[in-house]
Amino acid sequence: MDLLKWGRSPWGEWVMTHVSWNLFWASLFAGILFFVAHASYMLFSAHRKRASAETDALEAARKDLPAKIERHNLTARLFHWVMAAAMFVLLFTAFLPVVGVKFAWVRWHWIAGLVLTGSILFHIVHASFFLDFWSIWVGPKDIPEFKAELLREFGHDVPGPKPGKYPLGNRLYHLAQVVAGLLVIITGVLMMSRIRTPLFTRNPYLFSDAAWGVTYVGHGLAGVGMVGLVIAHVYFAVRPDKWWITKSMIFGWITRRQYLEHHEPTRWRVVGGGSTAKPAGQA
Ligand code: HEM
Repeated sequence: MDLLKWGRSPWGEWVMTHVSWNLFWASLFAGILFFVAHASYMLFSAHRKRASAETDALEAARKDLPAKIERHNLTARLFHWVMAAAMFVLLFTAFLPVVGVKFAWVRWHWIAGLVLTGSILFHIVHASFFLDFWSIWVGPKDIPEFKAELLREFGHDVPGPKPGKYPLGNRLYHLAQVVAGLLVIITGVLMMSRIRTPLFTRNPYLFSDAAWGVTYVGHGLAGVGMVGLVIAHVYFAVRPDKWWITKSMIFGWITRRQYLEHHEPTRWRVVGGGSTAKPAGQA
């Protein structure tokens, strides 16, 4: 299977120009395969929320908690939905032509690209200065949790803490999106100099042919990667057992019981009124 497309530069050298659209089909297939495999696995897997008796006891002990606990504030929710809309426009404008739906896609694509870029820049500032920045990242400290989660997946009853605000899987997913997202944005912004926009004069000679090839291939690789990542994300969002999380991205809150069932209160501290605080010991 060809992974890249090649062309001749004006000087007769072979340079890579684009990714092969075989990769788009591979990513679409991987996304659908993941969805089928995970859905089948979940039919046989035990649900991993806290046992009812244990949650009842915690609820009785934590009468100080409000009935509704804020999970995503309005700014974070607005960012999420603007980013999601831009992402869908980008995916459909990029890949509908590949599957045979031909239209003038480039203009809609770069406009959505700028909306995505702006929303991500906003998100970086918002998350760095106004949210609990470290709650979404993974590092060596998470290895014991990773091992315990794997053993639980294979049916072992392993003791250990529940997740903080974001479970390990969500944090790994966010990391994959950061890598693919930054690559697609940086390359996309550079590629704008090759096309005609009302924003500035086109300059297709900014880079050599070989460097443009690398840029287009990087953009294509990150773009096809996004197909699989977005399918996985939407699949989890629509699973009935995850609706409580999806609803929190619409309305902003989860119930006290959902908080105690799925999270470790010491790792995601909630203070009076339902707003969240950084875990103990964190600056
Ligand atoms: C989900 C995110 C994105 C996906 C899936 C995506 C996908 C793609 C694909 C598959 C192409 C065709 C590449 C090729 O022919 O080798 C493309 C081209 C392009 N993209 Fe994106 N892209 C995304 C984000 C962005 C962003 C953030 C920008 C700009 C800020 C952008 C700007 C462009 C431009 C200018 C082109 C070149 C059009 C041309 O040369 O004719 N894209 N994109």
